[in-house]
Amino acid sequence: MTADWSKIEALPATKLTDLFAADSERLSKLSLDVAGIHFDWSKTHLTTDMVTAFEEMAKAQDLSGKRQALFSGEVVNVTEGRAVEHTAERGEGKPESVAIAQASHQRMRTLIDAIEAEALGPVRHILHVGIGGSALGPQLLVDALGRDDKRYDVAIVANVDGVALEDVFAKFDPAATLLVVASKTFTTTETLMNAESVLQWMTEHNVEDPYGRVIALTASPEKAMEWGVDETRILPFAESVGGRYSLWSTIGFPAAIALGWDRFEELLEGAAEMDRHFRLSALHENAPALAAFADLYYTQIRHAETRAPFAYDERLRLLPSYLQQLEMESNGKSVTVDGQPLGRPSAAITWGGVGTEAQHAVFQLLHQGTHLVPVEFIAVIEPGDTLPEEHHRALLLNAFAQGAALMAGKQVEDPARSYSGDRPSSTLLLDDLDARTLGALIAFYEHRVFVNGVLLGINSFDQFGVELGKEMAKAAEKGGQTFDPSTDDLIKRAFG
Ligand code: F6P
Repeated sequence: MTADWSKIEALPATKLTDLFAADSERLSKLSLDVAGIHFDWSKTHLTTDMVTAFEEMAKAQDLSGKRQALFSGEVVNVTEGRAVEHTAERGEGKPESVAIAQASHQRMRTLIDAIEAEALGPVRHILHVGIGGSALGPQLLVDALGRDDKRYDVAIVANVDGVALEDVFAKFDPAATLLVVASKTFTTTETLMNAESVLQWMTEHNVEDPYGRVIALTASPEKAMEWGVDETRILPFAESVGGRYSLWSTIGFPAAIALGWDRFEELLEGAAEMDRHFRLSALHENAPALAAFADLYYTQIRHAETRAPFAYDERLRLLPSYLQQLEMESNGKSVTVDGQPLGRPSAAITWGGVGTEAQHAVFQLLHQGTHLVPVEFIAVIEPGDTLPEEHHRALLLNAFAQGAALMAGKQVEDPARSYSGDRPSSTLLLDDLDARTLGALIAFYEHRVFVNGVLLGINSFDQFGVELGKEMAKAAEKGGQTFDPSTDDLIKRAFG
């Protein structure tokens, strides 16, 4: 059944400053504290009436039934006939699936202990090759949490461009490098080509038994074995864990080994806390649901085409690109779960950056451009640095001031110097950037994507849109194939 938007459409589009003026309780009504994160949607156009209308829509769309189906391991990814069980990796889900996830974590832990004991020879560098969900998640974790306390050098290479690998070769000692091949399907061209090149590099540098220094992280262990990885060094995970939802599984290996097992476990616990919040809280006090309601209001009613998260914390600089895959690969679809035309905008284009840098580059458009861009500020109260506290104070105050300026605007005589204001932003303020809070933050985004998908009637868990380009690249690689005049000309120019 398609959602009925009429009630939400009929609500008045009151200015943000007027919403605050009309309701002294607005802030407390539209903010929440969950798992070490303070969420503030009071500077969005959400109102309690709107939340109620969205709750009714969610009821009509059976959001709670679908949420229950997700957590009980039912087939919710219908186009691929699969359950969606990333929450089982953090202990929340069907008991059998939780047990499988725990066994695979135990296997990872045992292998990490063996590596630490130098059972595979000396290891100082971890060279992880993988792409998309097999790279962005672990990269975010290691970057965000590994700044002060990392037990190995970690490089995560995704791009097939050899420059990416060569940059790592210049820094790593081949005799002390462990190659980690991360691929859910173990068929991804870029990853396998990169893995071959790493083995070649090891061989050229006289590493004895390079294959003996390979670990595979995959849901297709038989393919990894065919490729040459010994069964004892394959860390499998369940097919029902989607690529962009997989950092909790053995795909998180670089984080688990570099940050230490305790921190990996804390990450899972933080995510589980958010899972329970999402599963058990009423929608009007449910962080992922409220965030999705705001997303949907802007995409569906106010026709916002993009949304922009800005991390006001250098340690979270990779969060926007992580969210790009999570949100755009999940909800960038033009058909409903039943294969009908969607007939409405799908999810917003996610883009963003890091504050305060972005203020001096792209905020011009956010303050004065003609596009409506809901902005999200993500900041952390506890500083990550030890410099005089003025740095962190300036960082946070800038984030808060930007939100205030977007909302308030400023009218002066000169239109070029005026700010319309009434531009929405939400703020996520973390107490600290520890593993537990980061786990909760990422799980929050996953569930927010889910709610967006359910209310739009989209299957958030397939990604057929990426296949056509891959097929055509493979056909081009084989040769003898003509495309269109422009593409044929480009191929000829590059390769003769
Ligand atoms: O091409 C997109 C995609 O399938 C993503 O969904 C996935 O995260 C990525 O490629 C990598 O896939 P794999 O882990 O199977 O190598």
